[in-house]
Amino acid sequence: MNIEFEKAKLSDYKEIHTVMETSAREISRKSYHKEVVDTFDKFYVEKTTDYIKQTLENPNNHTILAKSGERIIGFIQLKVNKQTGTISHLYILPGYEGNSVGTQLFKRIKVKAMQLNINKLMLESTLNALSYYERLGFKNNGLIPDGSAYILEMELECV
Ligand SMILES: CC(C)(COP(=O)(O)OP(=O)(O)OC[C@H]1O[C@@H](n2cnc3c(N)ncnc32)[C@H](O)[C@@H]1OP(=O)(O)O)[C@@H](O)C(=O)NCCC(=O)NCCS
Repeated sequence: MNIEFEKAKLSDYKEIHTVMETSAREISRKSYHKEVVDTFDKFYVEKTTDYIKQTLENPNNHTILAKSGERIIGFIQLKVNKQTGTISHLYILPGYEGNSVGTQLFKRIKVKAMQLNINKLMLESTLNALSYYERLGFKNNGLIPDGSAYILEMELECV
């Protein structure tokens, strides 16, 4: 598969939202049993197309897209706060998982974070993706109080 990686443009916000919404519903949601699925659903109600647009407008966010032809098949977003970076989104369009796209997106955003002198990466992982992130090198700091996500972190070495 020929995949290209590029910085997101503001005009991409609707397609990025579709990737997130479809990926969350068709991949992540399946790992949520009934005690936590309502929390999961509420979380995505707030993540509207306007919310994605605002994240693209915010200069503290960096968004990288994976594209197959003209189609966005995945994206990752880094939110910068001084020397800490939060991976706020990483979603692959269903049908394109398992092709290393997520891993390549992560490697690219990690390089960006190091260039920005970030020394710690944080993220809240959906329940399905914990072992994936642990394989990328994140340390698990446990579940958030409502049990719907794990808090993960990774120390970065300065370049
Ligand atoms: C989790 C996700 C980002 C991984 O991206 P991907 O492009 O499918 O992953 P890659 O192809 O880079 O995977 C590399 C390896 O991790 C494995 N892997 C993928 N998803 C995994 C998961 N949920 N749990 C454990 N391992 C996983 C792959 O099988 C592959 O293993 P291999 O190298 O032995 O073949 C993607 O599946 C996704 O978008 N999931 C739904 C949304 C989501 O949960 N996002 C995280 C929100 S915090």
